[in-house]
Amino acid sequence: MYGLIHRAVRQMATEGLGPDRWRELSRAADIHDDDMISAKVYSDETTMRLIGAVSTELDVPVEEMLEQFGAYWVRFAGTSGYAAMLDMAGDNLLECLRNLDRLHSGIKLTLPEAELPSFTVLDHGKGYVNVRYSSVRVGLEPFVKGLLAGLLARFGLEGTVVAVGPSDLGIVFHVAFRE
Ligand code: HEM
Repeated sequence: MYGLIHRAVRQMATEGLGPDRWRELSRAADIHDDDMISAKVYSDETTMRLIGAVSTELDVPVEEMLEQFGAYWVRFAGTSGYAAMLDMAGDNLLECLRNLDRLHSGIKLTLPEAELPSFTVLDHGKGYVNVRYSSVRVGLEPFVKGLLAGLLARFGLEGTVVAVGPSDLGIVFHVAFRE
């Protein structure tokens, strides 16, 4: 994944652990400043090694770490150089979910080698949205759960996110919230 993602992991870890423990863990996991170049692509193995090292240091299981990182990413992106793009995606949850593919298409113009997922709103009603996530990657379901929770928080909503099972085309998430 692009180094931009690594920078967000580093920022989250540094906030949680402090700079000294970050330095120790990155040394132990063989992660260097060279792995933090926003516009450079790294193997997913490197990205997962980084996340694994932070999860060990924080003593949080990898799945939970990915979920926390998903919610963190929404806040990080919302204050990054991409904040305006996120703002333009929508000012409510449904609109934003419907525009995620457009948002990522815009990002692909600046980060052309990005392998981006696709989100489809399947149905929605009072207090819920069902959205399907499709990707060439596997194992990022907890990350997506955290991202969707991060979007709930972004729009000031209290709610829950549950994966309701894989289908041929991806994984469906049920996002429920109080209106
Ligand atoms: C301005 C906001 C955002 C930016 C700049 C952004 C950018 C990116 C980038 C650079 C990647 C890595 C792709 C790669 O290196 O191959 C990525 C992956 C991903 N993004 Fe976004 N993104 C944003 C918002 C969101 C939101 C709001 C969601 C979902 C609610 C989301 C869902 C994902 C997922 C699930 C992946 C993992 C890739 C995969 O599943 O294959 N992103 N995004």
